[in-house]
Amino acid sequence: MRRRALLGAGATVLGAGALTAAGWPLLSRYAREGLPGKVMTSRAELPAAFRTPLPIPRVLEPVSSNGTTDTYELTQQHAELEILPGLRTAAWTYGGTFPGPTIVSRSGRRTVVRHRNELDRPAVVHLHGGHTPAASDGYPTSLILPADGSYDAHRVHQDMTGGPHGHAMGHGAMDLAEGSRTYTYPFDQRAATLWYHDHRMSYTGAAVWMGLAGFHLVHDDEEERLPLPRGDRDIPLMITDRSFAADGSFQYPWLDAQLRTPGVTDAYMNGVLGDVILVNGAPWPVHQVRRLRYRLRLLNASNARLYKLQLDPQPEGGGGFVQIGSDGGLLDAPRRHDTLEIAPAERFDVVVDFSRYRPGTRVRLLNRFGDGSTAQVMRFDVGSGSPRDDTTVPGKLSDVPRLDPGRATVTRDFHFRGSDVGWTINGTEYEPGNSLARPALGQVEIWRFTTNFHHPIHVHLDHFQVLSRNNRDIGPFDHGWKDTVDLRPAEAVEIVTRFTDYPGTYMLHCHNLEHEDMAMMADFTTA
Ligand code: C2O
Ligand code: CU
Ligand code: CU
Repeated sequence: MRRRALLGAGATVLGAGALTAAGWPLLSRYAREGLPGKVMTSRAELPAAFRTPLPIPRVLEPVSSNGTTDTYELTQQHAELEILPGLRTAAWTYGGTFPGPTIVSRSGRRTVVRHRNELDRPAVVHLHGGHTPAASDGYPTSLILPADGSYDAHRVHQDMTGGPHGHAMGHGAMDLAEGSRTYTYPFDQRAATLWYHDHRMSYTGAAVWMGLAGFHLVHDDEEERLPLPRGDRDIPLMITDRSFAADGSFQYPWLDAQLRTPGVTDAYMNGVLGDVILVNGAPWPVHQVRRLRYRLRLLNASNARLYKLQLDPQPEGGGGFVQIGSDGGLLDAPRRHDTLEIAPAERFDVVVDFSRYRPGTRVRLLNRFGDGSTAQVMRFDVGSGSPRDDTTVPGKLSDVPRLDPGRATVTRDFHFRGSDVGWTINGTEYEPGNSLARPALGQVEIWRFTTNFHHPIHVHLDHFQVLSRNNRDIGPFDHGWKDTVDLRPAEAVEIVTRFTDYPGTYMLHCHNLEHEDMAMMADFTTA
């Protein structure tokens, strides 16, 4: 990044809202909390909340299965979606929908996904939370070129390195597949809520905003033995914010409309926020529930927005969200929350017992970090009657062995900084092939993250455990196996980690996608 705009952009977020008549800056709650990003205001007419039924992404069928492996095919394609009633939104999709279809895998069985790229630009697929060999992890320069042959190595290189936010990169770092690529996931990992999304260097923010994201669920025997809600009472909820132009198309502040130059305009360097909240691709949807327990798999797939979710009304006695899982699967025991703070890429698996509400109650899912249109997310309309519920949330869910920090032989420091030279990790901008750490497989390590701004930090390959925040106890949302941890301004977070099984080059990065695209990413190499 050669532009010296970051501090200016930061000041914009905190200072340049509308002014009241008295001349006081009118800050949104979001900005007052010091949360990152700037809202792109929609020009389209926005629908009333709670009119659209909640869509549930279809489950993808394998094209073949044998004793060890299920094979899937997905085409990345342009699609015209009706997201706002009566308007058309041109989207980049997995298989024609946003979110893409849900892939459901079994722990211990191999899943193979053949991705064909019929978009007009290169793509990369990453399985977020997957314990995946490096060759299938979606390294940001391991591209699937468009099947129409419109891209060659020269054009690819130009598009990633050009303009003020291009990254330094040698041609050698590129690994190009023509038209399609096969990703192999061994799924030697426990049940968890994972998701897949685009990961192309410099363009991840734009690609995910345009629609390239979907769920990938992993089941296992341990989880199946528990009497948790399942079937149509196990619901993945992908929460995103988006902004719409007058004609219904997605608005994103790219530097050039042809998308040949990475980065966003200066005002959006801290992150792009929308004013429309979508759940599974629908604006402020509504879902009919029975007076029974439901499992909700909450995923924040937004580029930059953080949410503080709350049920309204709260059930009597509080604790409406019973968290049973985190990014990396089941917790050891359930944890009750009144609110859930969820940063980009984090997942919380919660059980909500709607029998705690009177028949006919309309329960809104609020965003306490939001204002106006972003203060609510969706609504659950509770049915009548008292159906019998044969599910429970057991007091013990799983064994979650603690990684013992006393066994750590290495401590590494990673400083996440926004400064006048760019979004950096340890003072450097992302450069493919430049590894900042070389952890030995099997070795327990402590990684210490420090920051001067809000950054949700994500580590590929293996889940980790949060050890401390500012040398104190971990926060209420840090429990269990995590792959993304939210860092707040001036915080130090320690995690304990151990990489296993797969040697190769992986990434560590900020999951605010604008920060990621503008260089807050680093390689690490396991051996
Ligand atoms: Cu969800 Cu490296 O990303
Ligand atoms: Cu990931
Ligand atoms: Cu960041």
